[in-house]
Amino acid sequence: MGAGRVGLVAAACLANSGHEVICVEKDPARLEKLIQAEVPFYEEGLGELVESALRQRRLSFTGVLPGRLSDVGIVLVAAGTPLLPAGGVDLSYVYDAVNEVVQHAPQPLTLVMKSTVPPGTGVAIQRDLLGKGSVKHSYISNPEFLREGRAIHDWYHPDRIVIGGQDAEAIQRVREIYEGINAPVLVMDVTSAEVAKYAANAFLATKVSFINEIANLCELVGADIDAVARAVGMDHRIGTHYLKAGLGYGGSCLPKDTNGFAFVSALNGYDLRLLKTVIEVNAAQRRRAVDKLSQALGGLTGKRVAVLGLAFKPGTDDIRESPGIEIARLLATAGASVSACDPMAWTSACGLLPPEVELVTEAFSALQGCHAALLATEWEEFINLDWQKVRSVMRAPYVILDGRNALPRDLLRQYGFNYHGVGR
Ligand code: UDX
Repeated sequence: MGAGRVGLVAAACLANSGHEVICVEKDPARLEKLIQAEVPFYEEGLGELVESALRQRRLSFTGVLPGRLSDVGIVLVAAGTPLLPAGGVDLSYVYDAVNEVVQHAPQPLTLVMKSTVPPGTGVAIQRDLLGKGSVKHSYISNPEFLREGRAIHDWYHPDRIVIGGQDAEAIQRVREIYEGINAPVLVMDVTSAEVAKYAANAFLATKVSFINEIANLCELVGADIDAVARAVGMDHRIGTHYLKAGLGYGGSCLPKDTNGFAFVSALNGYDLRLLKTVIEVNAAQRRRAVDKLSQALGGLTGKRVAVLGLAFKPGTDDIRESPGIEIARLLATAGASVSACDPMAWTSACGLLPPEVELVTEAFSALQGCHAALLATEWEEFINLDWQKVRSVMRAPYVILDGRNALPRDLLRQYGFNYHGVGR
């Protein structure tokens, strides 16, 4: 239920593994596209997988669940759980999906929660919704850990499969849908599975904010974050992943889940102080980039700045909580004239940027006449630009702020750029 980034990947991968999958999508425009084998967002390899599953008649799409449930054994709920303006998690889509199943399933089935829901939600659903009807359904929490852009790879090669539940038969049924996938299966209670999902994202966010703070210190003491992170990460107890300093984390999950986790934790009587600081450090990292540009340019008023990259990371068209988008907005507010571009997120960025930010399709045009450029997303297209040619179309003082520490620093300095990185 739900053909978003999690639901559609699950549907396509399960169909590809030989299961018969009905994918329910409530948005008529989205459903129409899906029926035509058109994936409404970019995810590497997903289009091909959906097409092949449709061709083999293992996958079908529908907007209406009633009538389709009679021979269904397992329902995966992959509804969105956006943040509410007040900070809590909006569970209305999840509850709608569960209610629909409860109302229309004539036989007992296994309800598998894929959506990220606050600890305690599964217990409440079992008590308030599943426990009430005449048909007894089983409930399993089975969080996903898929990265955007790598979701299909991550589905088939997970580090672990978490199954939270009590009913041994239901646990076995969920194990079976992952048959053939070589990963440890961790069985636990429902609430622990819910906490595990939030805690994993919180820890990843913590690593990113941690290394960003160390990078900021490196700038002040004259150390190099690349060398520091390498030395720190090679300690096996720490690990090399998520130690890339930059503009901070964005996307649909880390920002939403860290905020949701801190909020829900407070509701339960515990103040997650460390996580709250991680969130603050992440927000400050974006403002710091604006300050750095302002300092390098001697003020932002009347200066022209190019923002290269609007997707929250390379390999996706997703711009949710993207540092590039926010920094472009902040620069415009501070009086700079801003041009922005992205190889994939152009369409999604239209309408989200203030009208004074000029959205350009091609990097060279965006850089034309700019006093400074910010690399906000480390797309290969940007890293491999002909930087000597870029130098010839930009204007003094030729500032480059490499917000992802991905550009060839020495070469850029050699070409006469005024290069700044993050902790470099
Ligand atoms: C994340 C989790 O990785 C995944 O397990 C979960 O299911 C969903 O959220 P995703 O949102 O696709 O996945 O993004 P991810 O690849 O984790 O990157 C998140 C952000 O952190 C990006 O903005 C990225 O640029 C940033 N990041 C990541 C860093 O700044 N430094 C790093 O070292 C790693």
